[in-house]
Amino acid sequence: MTAALGFGLGLRTDHYEAILESHPRVDWFEALSENYLVPGGKPLYYLDRIRADYPIVLHGVSLSIGSADPLDRDYLKALKQLAQRVEPAWVSDHLCWTGVAGKNLHDLFPIPYTEEAVEHVAARVREVQDFLGRRILLENVSSYVTFRGSEMSEWDFLSEIARRADCQVLLDVNNIYVSAFNHGFDALEFLNGIPVERVRQIHLAGHSNCGTHIIDTHDAEIINAVWDLYATAVRRFGNVATMIERDDHIPPLADLVAELGRAREIAAHSLQAKAA
Ligand SMILES: [Fe+2]
Repeated sequence: MTAALGFGLGLRTDHYEAILESHPRVDWFEALSENYLVPGGKPLYYLDRIRADYPIVLHGVSLSIGSADPLDRDYLKALKQLAQRVEPAWVSDHLCWTGVAGKNLHDLFPIPYTEEAVEHVAARVREVQDFLGRRILLENVSSYVTFRGSEMSEWDFLSEIARRADCQVLLDVNNIYVSAFNHGFDALEFLNGIPVERVRQIHLAGHSNCGTHIIDTHDAEIINAVWDLYATAVRRFGNVATMIERDDHIPPLADLVAELGRAREIAAHSLQAKAA
């Protein structure tokens, strides 16, 4: 395992110029792969310039690893080319499906947690990893429905796929909080169910609490309960690369850098407690 990257932010169009001008205290950026799959153009211009100063990781939303459709070879080819250009520290996507019959529905849909699905997804992850020539990270998504046919917990589902495919895990702590609220499970049980050695990156984000359910909106600051869960996650998983995702109501870069400072403080405190 290589050393953790530190503390990053999602790379957003609104911040391109500010990053280049102010060179903020951010250890790395996570770029959304789909924004850079077209050769040339403004997005790639900025990505190349920012890449000159910062490590980058690539995060996708179109792999659709849980779909029953064949893997999208054109997408994978474009992703591989992008990875060759950017040389990311790693490539990640979500443990979900995003479409069927060739249609991208642009949402992250949950998978029933069954043995059949474990085998299906693990085989596809192995295929993707062979094609890309690198291990990938799979991220737990927020979900709003439970399948009656599920045979195991979400954490066992994710862990077993990671084991069989020999892939790594992007643990979204906010998504654990959201899904725990929506489905009534214990978020700590989720954390404790994921093998420590598989977790390479952590996501943090804000959400919208509608009272009866929570929607994963990435449009607000991280709430205290998610910070608490993050503190527990660092005590379990150690010094894992951590980043904040913000996709709506995007504040000035300096505000997110300040929020990232809170992640640094909490992680340092948790690592001290872990070492004591
Ligand atoms: Fe996430």
